[in-house]
Amino acid sequence: MKREQWGSRTGFILAAVGSAVGLGNIWRFPYMAYENGGGAFFIPYLFAMLTAGIPFMILEFTLGHKYRSGAPKTLKALNNRFEWLGWFQVMISAIIAFYYVVVIAWAISYAYFAFTQAWGEDSNGFFFGEFLGLADGSAPSNLGGLQWHLLLPLCLAWAASFFATYRGVKGGIEKVNKVLMPLLFVMVLLLIGRIVFLPGALNGINWLLEPDFSKIWDLKVWSAAYGQIFFTLSVGFAIMLSYASYLPEKSDINNNAFMTVLMNCGFSMLAGIMIFGALGYMANAQDKELTEVVSSGVGLAFVTLPTAINLLPAPGVMGPLFFLALVFAGISSHISISEAVTTGLMDKLGWSRQKTATIFCSTGLVVSLLFITQGGLLLLDLVDYFINNIALLGSCLLELLLVGWLCRLEDFRGHANRLSEFTIGAWWTICIRFVSIGILVVILFNNILGAF
Ligand code: PHE
Ligand code: NA
Repeated sequence: MKREQWGSRTGFILAAVGSAVGLGNIWRFPYMAYENGGGAFFIPYLFAMLTAGIPFMILEFTLGHKYRSGAPKTLKALNNRFEWLGWFQVMISAIIAFYYVVVIAWAISYAYFAFTQAWGEDSNGFFFGEFLGLADGSAPSNLGGLQWHLLLPLCLAWAASFFATYRGVKGGIEKVNKVLMPLLFVMVLLLIGRIVFLPGALNGINWLLEPDFSKIWDLKVWSAAYGQIFFTLSVGFAIMLSYASYLPEKSDINNNAFMTVLMNCGFSMLAGIMIFGALGYMANAQDKELTEVVSSGVGLAFVTLPTAINLLPAPGVMGPLFFLALVFAGISSHISISEAVTTGLMDKLGWSRQKTATIFCSTGLVVSLLFITQGGLLLLDLVDYFINNIALLGSCLLELLLVGWLCRLEDFRGHANRLSEFTIGAWWTICIRFVSIGILVVILFNNILGAF
């Protein structure tokens, strides 16, 4: 049977951008930048984008295009003894799919709450207390340890991924992204267009962009920048590889990779401007310092921004717009994670797409119930920490070692160049073989030590 294919080049790029642009761009990037020296973060970040992000994206597109299969089969083709790494990547993707979806479910609930700012004045108490039922354990919505009110949003989020992966590459994934991505960009532009004119907004934006060069010699900042690049681009765990395995024979690999990376990182900048503009306005309105209103982690999107939304003009419009943007960004990423698992299983086990998607999404729904229990948030934080700081970087490192040192890397460069409008030079090889690997070793070592 002939392998499915993307319907058009735009369709593929939108899907790849849809995967890359996710929750990570909207809430993770702004506070990572903020915590790591604001404007000074951009130097390590740009460096990471050029030396790791772009080369890795080209590599994954090339491998997917060349071997036309998901991770386990591709890695087996590269080296018989490395099939397990492909399964490891599929496993990481599956784990991410199980908890990422829960944050989307929160965002769906909040999009609904936002019409009336149902979180009230005390957005912190609302989020942890009434919403997650953590405050005193007596929250009414907390039956038998399960947050029942999250069940419907959770099912909706899984349904979107199920629909897309079941219908397949062209009829499902591409279709959904062609609608969601343009909408997402328009929504964020509308939000920015209103926010930047509010008093104090520019202070917030300046704060984000103002360089703090004292941080540039700090290993932590570099580690954060590389970690953010791998996560934000969805590279290193079979996702982009799976999408690229459905590219037609004639495809401009280098160009597609550049477009995907630049659009993702450009979107992150927009999201940073939007969030810090809103925070600057909020600080101004409450007569506080910006540092007093910023928070990191889940608190930024679900505690701080709701308070900021209360203060905005037309909160009943701005609020739903913001949370729906979060939902759209999240869903298009979740689809890609589910597809990486589906492609991996399907290609290796010979199951049909429909059967694989059904099994994975229904199992996934059940497993993610774990994260909507009383201990859900704690578990989510723990798993997220381990995945981002250790498993993900470890998987990236192993893949680069295998490809860079045990395979003929130059053949892959040739493969990408043969198809592309512009060619990549020896810098690509150097970045993969030395720069990325060297930096990953340092960061991973540092993170492992830091975890204990
Ligand atoms: N790249 C996505 C983001 O920035 C996150 C993601 C992670 C997507 C893992 C797919 C898989 O949010
Ligand atoms: Na991203």
